[in-house]
Amino acid sequence: MPKRRVKVLDTTLRDGEQTPGVALAPEQKLEIARALDDLGVDVIEAGAAITSEGERRAIKLISKAGLDAEICSFARAVRSDVDAALECDVDSVHLVVPTSDLHLKYKLKKTRQEVQRMALDVARYALDHGLMVEFSAEDATRTEPAFLMKILSAAVDEGVQRVCVCDTVGILTPESSAKLFSDITKQLKVPVAAHCHDDFGMATANTLAAARSGAGEVHVTVNGLGERGGNAALEEVVLALSHLHGLRTGIRLNKLYQVSKLVERHTGVPVPPNKAVVGENAFAHEAGIHAHGVLAYPGTYEPVSPEVVGHHRRLVFGKHVGTHAIESELRRMGLKPTKMQVQKISDQVKHLGDRGKMVTDAELRAIVDAVMGRKFKEVVKLEELTVVSGNRVTPTSSVKVKFGDKEVVESGLGIGPVDAAMNAIKKVVEGMANIRLKEYHVDAISGGTDAVVSVVVKLTDGKRIVTARGTSGDIIMASVQAMLNGVNRLLWDRKLGGL
Ligand code: KIV
Ligand code: ZN
Repeated sequence: MPKRRVKVLDTTLRDGEQTPGVALAPEQKLEIARALDDLGVDVIEAGAAITSEGERRAIKLISKAGLDAEICSFARAVRSDVDAALECDVDSVHLVVPTSDLHLKYKLKKTRQEVQRMALDVARYALDHGLMVEFSAEDATRTEPAFLMKILSAAVDEGVQRVCVCDTVGILTPESSAKLFSDITKQLKVPVAAHCHDDFGMATANTLAAARSGAGEVHVTVNGLGERGGNAALEEVVLALSHLHGLRTGIRLNKLYQVSKLVERHTGVPVPPNKAVVGENAFAHEAGIHAHGVLAYPGTYEPVSPEVVGHHRRLVFGKHVGTHAIESELRRMGLKPTKMQVQKISDQVKHLGDRGKMVTDAELRAIVDAVMGRKFKEVVKLEELTVVSGNRVTPTSSVKVKFGDKEVVESGLGIGPVDAAMNAIKKVVEGMANIRLKEYHVDAISGGTDAVVSVVVKLTDGKRIVTARGTSGDIIMASVQAMLNGVNRLLWDRKLGGL
């Protein structure tokens, strides 16, 4: 039996942008839309055209970008919303109509009949103007079931191409979702979409139950962004559809991690490390027994391989580490440690772990060097660092480093003093060794304005990635130290013959 295909409507650029604190510029929206198209989503809800001038500019850019996906604008049941969508040249409108008595009484102050009349009038208007219409019942899961069916059936009779059932406040359970979607899909002759929110942490489970029970389309956002607890996460839903439920989507799964990172960068909403599928720990193994199992056969602790979703496996060295993981990492570095050396290294990593520290790559290498009697020499040394900041100047930094016998001087501007210092140091580093900063993370170790901070950076020279830490009472110094520790590690390893 061929697998049934479920359509994916991505609403990162509309519901996802409604995440508190998130606002995307038109160019950022366009970049995300291109990535979503490349990922293979069927419909991109690009925004609500009525919102603002900038929003219309963004939707127009996306409509004109020649993407394969259907481009859709959110619209309320008012003609001016459809006019705004038409101005942006979209393919379709997501026509949203509140249907619960609660919403009708407190939000619209209208009767069911009035709302149905308005909604059908606007649906007709949009269809007559050549738009496809997805007709959404907002707060459908708190709507009297007979009225929900009545208004959805009337919309289908009017000619809309799809309907959507919104679990606006996330109150479905997988059981009630299965029942609701099997009842509705049996009675309607157009595809029914599921739009689930995560207020009780069940958006993904409810969306999957809906798809299994006949829903032909799922509404999702990248990283599960969205109002309050967010929407069903695209990466979770599509992976589970294909790997657990035997349903098909058009998504290229191996681009999921990359798209997640892009959305994280543009929205500024960090992906929690333990986030399923795309979190930094999704394929990280620390515990001794787990790492041993994964090294012997990855399937022991990985339900799917990281490559399936474009992610990577990572062994983390902390207090649960086992000797197998240490030995394997050292062999990967081209070293041949004795059993005693492996044990000593493992003891030191555990000792740091007991003090609450995760061991960075640079720290692990320093332990290895000490235990195995290997020399380490700083290739780059900080000579001088100056940072100027204040309310009347653009934060500026200049840095002087010694690189072998040479002195290198660079300067950088930034949005703050740390950014300025990092930009100066990045210039030095990129100039000398083509090393790039991939991630920057700062933690306060103690409280108060005199807190000691720990900065962890992830650097790459294209071939390898290292993490390194800098710790200081001065956040600028901690940042610069972390950078230089990582750079020195990469350069020294390279000198030793490409570990
Ligand atoms: O959650 C919801 O009900 C919505 C609609 C406005 C479509 O996002
Ligand atoms: Zn929503």
